[in-house]
Amino acid sequence: MMRHIVFLGPPGVGKGTQSATLAKELGIPHLSTGDLLRSAVAARTPLGLEAQGHMDDGRLVPDELVLRILTERLAGPDARAGFILDGFPRNLGQAQKLDAITTLDAVVSFELPANLLVERLSGRRVCPTCQTVYNLTTRPPKVPGRCDRDGTELIQRPDDRPEAIATRLAVYAEQTAPLLGHYRRAGLLRAIDATGNPDEVAARVRGALR
Ligand code: AP5
Repeated sequence: MMRHIVFLGPPGVGKGTQSATLAKELGIPHLSTGDLLRSAVAARTPLGLEAQGHMDDGRLVPDELVLRILTERLAGPDARAGFILDGFPRNLGQAQKLDAITTLDAVVSFELPANLLVERLSGRRVCPTCQTVYNLTTRPPKVPGRCDRDGTELIQRPDDRPEAIATRLAVYAEQTAPLLGHYRRAGLLRAIDATGNPDEVAARVRGALR
């Protein structure tokens, strides 16, 4: 199985959900720039404070900040044997930087119609303590509004408000979708259908990486 993997796809397609499953199966870290940035925001570090406004509005955080946080994480000893990169790269400049520092085995591109993306994002709730992701319709917590693992009150991400969702989808189409061509030309792209339940999608991901 391949171990240096990028998960690419629009907001809400299920990259984070699938990364969590596959990273556990392969024993490699799930590196999400969104999660790293949200931790920096929660810890109120200077980088987090600078990133927050961009994130809440649904715009990309400046490359320089994201690269700083990612290169530090990629240098961790656990990332030597492989990783799943979720949410990075997001534009051609980031892809070129990544090409310069590592060699990828595969880029899995998740595809889902826009109405389903909006549905998944609008219903998402997250645990601010352990970051577990729920969905009011497709993955509800056992006790309404509470995390199954630690009982913390679930929250809605600020960028899951309708205005921010619209911005994120537009930013994806404009800045991130061109990466599909970049990775197709490199022979790395494996597109999968992201409809259906998480288990069905996970089976397609495994098939694509075999
Ligand atoms: P980031 O955190 O990366 O957000 P995103 O790419 O917009 O992706 P999401 O987390 O919204 O969706 P997902 O595909 O992971 O879906 P999930 O599995 O949660 O980025 C946030 C912000 O950080 C950016 O806007 C930007 O500001 C900044 N940022 C991050 N990286 C950056 C970078 N490289 N450069 C610059 N800025 C950067 O699923 C969504 C919902 O659907 C959940 O409720 C889930 O339970 C449900 N679900 C999942 N799978 C299924 C299924 N199969 N069926 C039904 N429901 C499902």
